[in-house]
Amino acid sequence: MKLGVNLSFAVKRWLEPEALAALIHDRLGVKYVQYTWDLTDPWWPAAERDRLAVAYAKAFRDAGLVVESTFGGLASYTYNHVLAPNADLRKLGKEHLKRAIDMTAAMEVPATGMPFGSYSSADAVDPARREEILKLAEEAWVELAAHAAESGLEMLYVEPVPLGTEFPSTAADGLRLMQDLDGKTEVPVRLLVDWGHAMFEPLFGIEANMDHWMKTCGDYIAAYHIQQTDGQLDRHWSFAQDGLLNKGVLEDFWKRYDLKEQTFFAEFVYPFEATDEYVLGDMVASMAALDVAKAA
Ligand SMILES: [Fe+2]
Ligand SMILES: [Fe+2]
Repeated sequence: MKLGVNLSFAVKRWLEPEALAALIHDRLGVKYVQYTWDLTDPWWPAAERDRLAVAYAKAFRDAGLVVESTFGGLASYTYNHVLAPNADLRKLGKEHLKRAIDMTAAMEVPATGMPFGSYSSADAVDPARREEILKLAEEAWVELAAHAAESGLEMLYVEPVPLGTEFPSTAADGLRLMQDLDGKTEVPVRLLVDWGHAMFEPLFGIEANMDHWMKTCGDYIAAYHIQQTDGQLDRHWSFAQDGLLNKGVLEDFWKRYDLKEQTFFAEFVYPFEATDEYVLGDMVASMAALDVAKAA
């Protein structure tokens, strides 16, 4: 089982690149990292943004860590992006990912990704509008994939989300998007599936399980987010807490599907008001519960 960590836990807390690199390497015992855009906003002016982002990338490399990808975080998720209801918002959504690709290229990291986008409340219940906007969004991603290729990136990821007002949410949505884009993009666009999203029972019912996702769109899944969940909300709990998942379930899945490179990135989101001491202690306990060192 190949474990990594998404840096969502560090946001607003551990900002110094060398100290963060040491924390990941020495305290969490993790080698594979997914950098979050919440540390350096793609919309910041490029010179300062890239200088800051490159400092993280360099510190991580110097510590022996491997940054496999960068990814949209909470700030990015606030906006509707390429599925927004008007052309200006959609254009800005496209520009947002273009800038994230630029930042990722400056960091010399080979892949980036984000959830695809969100419909407005009105568009979400209008099948014709959904199709019309989706078609435009797919065209935007074809152009973004060309920009990614020109910039030296090797892959883009889309993360399905557990909301019917967004796309893709179901495994069937994920398959549809992959098939729509297949062969049209200059770098492959693949799914990054979040276990806590896929197991959301209120929306997916009996299909809220990872075997359903593997059966439906498993060939297109290139990486995962792991988080502890009770299946009732998108919890992003750490594995220090009890829930539906544990090390045994994850390991069994890894073996049954003969996974090799599809890193499980732990993506834990803590309340802003949790103390730094609590978050660090919980991260250490949680990664220990996954037995990262032995799993690597
Ligand atoms: Fe996620
Ligand atoms: Fe989530």
